[in-house]
Amino acid sequence: MKFKTSSLIISLWLVGILTWKVTADNSPTFGDPFANLTNDLSVRFFDGKDEFTEEEDISDGLGPVFNDVSCAACHSNPAVGGDSDIVETRFGTITHNQFDPLTQLGGSLIQSQGIGPANACFGETIPTQATIQAGRKTPPLFGLGLVDNVPDSLLQQIAKNQKQNTPDIAGRPNMVKDPASGHLALGRFGWKAQVATLMTFSGDAYLNEMGITNPLFPTENAPQGDASLLAICDTVADPEDDGSGIQAFADFMSLLAPPPRGPITQSVLNGEGIFSAIGCAACHMPTLQTCPNPIKALDSVTFHPFSDFLLHDMGSLGDRIEQGQASGTEMRTAPLWGLRVRKSFLHDARATKIEDAILAHDGQGKDKHDLIAFLNSL
Ligand code: HEC
Ligand code: HEC
Repeated sequence: MKFKTSSLIISLWLVGILTWKVTADNSPTFGDPFANLTNDLSVRFFDGKDEFTEEEDISDGLGPVFNDVSCAACHSNPAVGGDSDIVETRFGTITHNQFDPLTQLGGSLIQSQGIGPANACFGETIPTQATIQAGRKTPPLFGLGLVDNVPDSLLQQIAKNQKQNTPDIAGRPNMVKDPASGHLALGRFGWKAQVATLMTFSGDAYLNEMGITNPLFPTENAPQGDASLLAICDTVADPEDDGSGIQAFADFMSLLAPPPRGPITQSVLNGEGIFSAIGCAACHMPTLQTCPNPIKALDSVTFHPFSDFLLHDMGSLGDRIEQGQASGTEMRTAPLWGLRVRKSFLHDARATKIEDAILAHDGQGKDKHDLIAFLNSL
């Protein structure tokens, strides 16, 4: 009897603690939508997540060449919408002193798989003409709705300030023609900031990762650049997505909450000071702001991506591929939020330790202990 009463008390106590935990901390974690969305937006997030996770097949328009069958196949760590160690290959060469993506041979992005039939539409390989080859790791997508809503003018102002105050590390925007509007816009997505909006990236990825044509990217990728193969392998009429698919991806990514911070200790706070003092924060800008937006979660929000979303000349760390205005040595400042859950770092995933990623640029690894503690908290 006595035993039963005490175990009842213990279980009530446990339930109390657990419900307290759940109600005290309802802030989103990796893979969650923003907190307190309206029902309508919540439905859009979860419908979008379904599309993002759905595996496509040939009858949906998959291929003729592709890299994987769903967005989530690559964007998965530590939750749907995250990063992965999956690295894609780009190639090109230099023709008449200019970067040449070898489009006629299927460049610059390799699609590593094909839908067949036999002898026709295989996955692509690097052609012998390529003299440049680069790996591109899958980055995480948490919080990118906020990045999408930073006005061009703010990032342009940051570039101006850097030119004036820290000319040695000054970055510049990658101005790209956005297929959705037909206008020049400030690129901010991708390792070279080669894409301006989440909507455009949705269309770009649907075509270039999965081979599914859509209103923004209506033209199929020919396997290894050989258009004659399309007659054999491409049987679904273009655009294969009527626009609802890319809208669903954009909805999911826009409403995906930013990564939560880890525990903030004294060592973390010391490290944050060092991070600014030694100049990391000049490129990895801690704080940005969105413009007004009818969606409350995106409306004039102050947030902490630890990036300026500008291109910087990284010397030998550059990947030698040109995209938009980005030269071979220029890369976008990698946003550091959510760093602690990544298992590989840098554009080609060459580093498996944060220390190595830091040492790869400029060898600045001094005062490492507190600095690393800070980074482990993002
Ligand atoms: C085969 C793996 C793979 C698949 C499948 C894939 N991605 Fe990606 N994703 C990547 C890689 C690699 C990059 C970096 C591209 C670059 O900059 O060259 C990327 C970048 C992105 C970015 C930019 C992130 C940033 O930090 O700027 C977005 C947005 C994105 N993907 C969305 C999608 C969507 C939507 C889908 C499905 C339609 C998708 N991806 C399918 C591998 C993948
Ligand atoms: C001149 C601008 C600049 C400065 C200063 C700078 N970084 Fe970076 N950082 C970058 C760029 C650009 C990348 C992406 C490099 C690439 O393409 O792989 C990057 C990548 C990283 C990464 C890898 C992130 C990932 O997800 O792969 C870490 C970690 C990092 N920086 C930390 C630091 C620290 C710590 C400092 C200060 C000691 C610092 N950075 C200073 C521009 C800068």
